Amino acid sequence: MTTLLRLADVNVYYGAFHVLRDVRLEVGAGEIVSLLGGNASGKSTTMKTILGLTRLRSGTITFDGVPVEHRSTPARVRAGIASVPEARRVFPQLTVDENLLAGAYTRKDRAGVAEDLERMREHFPRLAERRRQEAGTLSGGEQQMLAFARALMSRPRLICMDEPTMGLAPRLVDQVLDEIARLNRELGVAVLLVEQQAELALSIASRGYVLATGEIAVQGTADELLRDPRIQEAYLGRSTA
Ligand SMILES: Nc1ncnc2c1ncn2[C@@H]1O[C@H](COP(=O)(O)OP(=O)(O)OP(=O)(O)O)[C@@H](O)[C@H]1O
Ligand SMILES: [Mg+2]
Repeated sequence: MTTLLRLADVNVYYGAFHVLRDVRLEVGAGEIVSLLGGNASGKSTTMKTILGLTRLRSGTITFDGVPVEHRSTPARVRAGIASVPEARRVFPQLTVDENLLAGAYTRKDRAGVAEDLERMREHFPRLAERRRQEAGTLSGGEQQMLAFARALMSRPRLICMDEPTMGLAPRLVDQVLDEIARLNRELGVAVLLVEQQAELALSIASRGYVLATGEIAVQGTADELLRDPRIQEAYLGRSTA
């Protein structure tokens, strides 16, 4: 598999606080990779660093073979990195269509944008029905769909998703994970997925990394991680004693 995203020895500080320590991780083209870890382990910081929303002190971020760690966020989006931010934030006062167009803010090809808007309406018929509805009035599941569709409007090759199922009812959680697997399968987009529910995340991922206080503590294939006693104990709520 070709490597799409590579973080090498990434160090990030918040003031004097060393939050990411020599983080190394890779996402292959078209791959789903799960980023796990307890609260405050640095998962969101890793996502923000990939997007360029948090500055790194040292290390490199390569996307499609090109170093991007010194590029602006819009430049990274143009290169093919998109995000579904924590708690699937959408612009609540904007309509569904306006939210989708906001996802294409880095693009200048109007015809292509119009085409993609149509494609998103086909892919997410619920959003098409509600195109003029204010996004803040959508149900939780619909807002989630909109956050995915908005991310796709930049024609990304990688989507970074930070806890996309946060606060959703259990029934919707399964639905959202199925949707992520479908986007990956049908559109070939790679996904870096932060998810509290490790077992669910690993059920659709091919590999995973576990962050512990800012360091990659464990990594492996999804099957290896699911069988790892350290993971079972810490994240899957199973005692190995
Ligand atoms: N802007 C900031 N300034 C200072 N410290 C910060 C800032 N953002 C995050 N931190 C700290 O960095 C650490 C890692 O935070 P981060 O949000 O990356 O964790 P996380 O793994 O996403 O946690 P959670 O599972 O709770 O979302 C935490 O201790 C947090 O308090
Ligand atoms: Mg977080």
